[in-house]
Amino acid sequence: MNEILVTGATGTLGRPLVQLLAGHGAGVRVLSRRPRPTPAPPHQWCTGDLRSGQGIEAAAAGTGTIIHCATGRGDVAAARVLLAAAQRAGRPHLVYISIVGIDQIPVGSYRSKLETERLIADSGLPWTILRATQFHQLLARGCAALARLPVLPVPAATSFQPIDAGEVAARLAELATGAPAGRVPDLAGPQVRTAADLARSYLQAAGRHRRVQPVWLPGRVAAALRQGALLAPGHAGGRVTFEEFLASRPGARTAAAAGPHLDGETRPGAGGAAVTRPGRAWLRAALVLLAVIQAVTGAWQYFAPRSFFNFPTVAAGAPFNEHLMTDVGGLGMALAVVLGAAALRMERGLVQAALAGYLVYSVSHLAFHASHLMGLPAPGAALLLTGLVLLPAFALALLLVAARVTAPDGRRGEVKPARLEPRSPGRG
Ligand SMILES: NC(=O)c1ccc[n+]([C@@H]2O[C@H](COP(=O)([O-])OP(=O)(O)OC[C@H]3O[C@@H](n4cnc5c(N)ncnc54)[C@H](OP(=O)(O)O)[C@@H]3O)[C@@H](O)[C@H]2O)c1
Repeated sequence: MNEILVTGATGTLGRPLVQLLAGHGAGVRVLSRRPRPTPAPPHQWCTGDLRSGQGIEAAAAGTGTIIHCATGRGDVAAARVLLAAAQRAGRPHLVYISIVGIDQIPVGSYRSKLETERLIADSGLPWTILRATQFHQLLARGCAALARLPVLPVPAATSFQPIDAGEVAARLAELATGAPAGRVPDLAGPQVRTAADLARSYLQAAGRHRRVQPVWLPGRVAAALRQGALLAPGHAGGRVTFEEFLASRPGARTAAAAGPHLDGETRPGAGGAAVTRPGRAWLRAALVLLAVIQAVTGAWQYFAPRSFFNFPTVAAGAPFNEHLMTDVGGLGMALAVVLGAAALRMERGLVQAALAGYLVYSVSHLAFHASHLMGLPAPGAALLLTGLVLLPAFALALLLVAARVTAPDGRRGEVKPARLEPRSPGRG
C-alpha cells in the first residue's frame, strides 16, 4: 500500500487517525513542525512547516495519499504549499477534513476553510472532502475555559451536534483508503443539543457547580448559529454522545474539578501532572492577592490622589502632582488586570509575564524608597524596607513556582504533547 501522509497528525483528530491507519496496515507518515521525539514513534516522522514550506516537499514525496488535518494561522497559504508539493509528488489522493456550515457562518477561519476546499477541488488532484461537526473535545475545552468564571455563559438558543474525533478519524481513514470521492456526505454527532444543555452535562461530569447563563449574542454569526448553521441532523453518523465522551476520559472528574486545562488534551506526564499539582492553587491565590493589592492601591491613587499622597512615606519630600499620581494609579490598575488574567488562565507565559511586570515594579519601588529614607525614624525605615524587599522576593519565588506548576502555553492555552501519542478512538 502507498504511503499516507497525515498533516496535523499530532492534533485532536490526527492522533486517532494515525493510529487507525497504522492498524489498517498503511504506511503512515506523520507531519509536524516539531522535531522527531525520542524515543522514536512507530511511524515515519517528517518535520515540516506548512507556513514556511520547509520540509513539505520531502514529506509529500512518493505518497499515494495525503490527509490534510493541519490547521492554524494561514490555512489557505498552508493549503497552497501542500498542494504545490503534492503536484510535484506524483499527484496523490488529497483528503481534507472540513467543517459543517462553513459556507453559512461569516467568520475568518471558516472563510479560510471554504477557500481551502475550493483550492483542493480546483487543484486537478484526485480529492475527497469530508465536513464534520464540532468535536466533543472542542466543546469540552470551551466549557472548561468558561467554567473558570463564576457563571458559565453560553450562547442563547444555540445548538451543537458534537461528534467524537475518533469517529471522524475512522471515517477519514475509510475515505483515505478508498477511491477519491469528491465532497462526501457530512458527518455529525448523534444528538442535537443546546449549548446550555451541553454545559450542564460538562459541569455534572466534572463535578463542578456553576450557574449556566444563556446570553443573547448580537451579530450575524450568532444569528447563523441560532439558525442551526453548524448542524447536520440528517447526517447523525456518530454514536458516541457527549456524556459518553466525558465519562470515557481517565481522571476527567479530578482534572475538571481542578479547573483549567480540562480539555481532553491533558496527557500523562504533561498536562495531567500540571492540573493536579497542589502548588497551582497557591500560585493562583498569590496572583489574586497581588492583583487585589494592585487594584486597591491603584484605585486609591487614581480616585483619591491627594489622600494617597498624604499617606506617610509616600511624599518623601516631593511636591504633590495630581497628574503623576493618577497616572500611577491607572498603571497600578492595569497591572492588576494582567495579574488577574494570569490568575484566571494560569498559562505559564501569561503568569510569568504578569509576575515579571510585578517584579519590575516592586524592585523600582524598593529602589526609590531605599534612597529616600531621610526623615523616617530608624524602626520605621527598617519596617518599610523589610516590607518592600519582601514584595519582589515574593514575586521572584512565585516565578520559580510558576515554572514548575503551570502548563506551557500552546494553542488555546492547553498543554502541547511532547511527542505523538495516538489515543484510541472514542477517547478524549
Ligand atoms: N476541532 C473541531 O471541532 C473540528 C470540527 C470539524 C473539523 N475540524 C477540522 O479538523 C482538522 C483538525 O482539527 P484538530 O482539532 O485536530 O486540530 P488541532 O488539534 O488544533 O491540531 C492542529 C494540528 O495542525 C498542525 N499544524 C498547525 N500549524 C501547522 C503548520 N504550519 N505546519 C504543519 N502543521 C501544522 C499541528 O501540528 P504540530 O503542532 O505538531 O506542528 C497540529 O497537529 C482541522 O482542519 C479542523 O478545522 C475540527
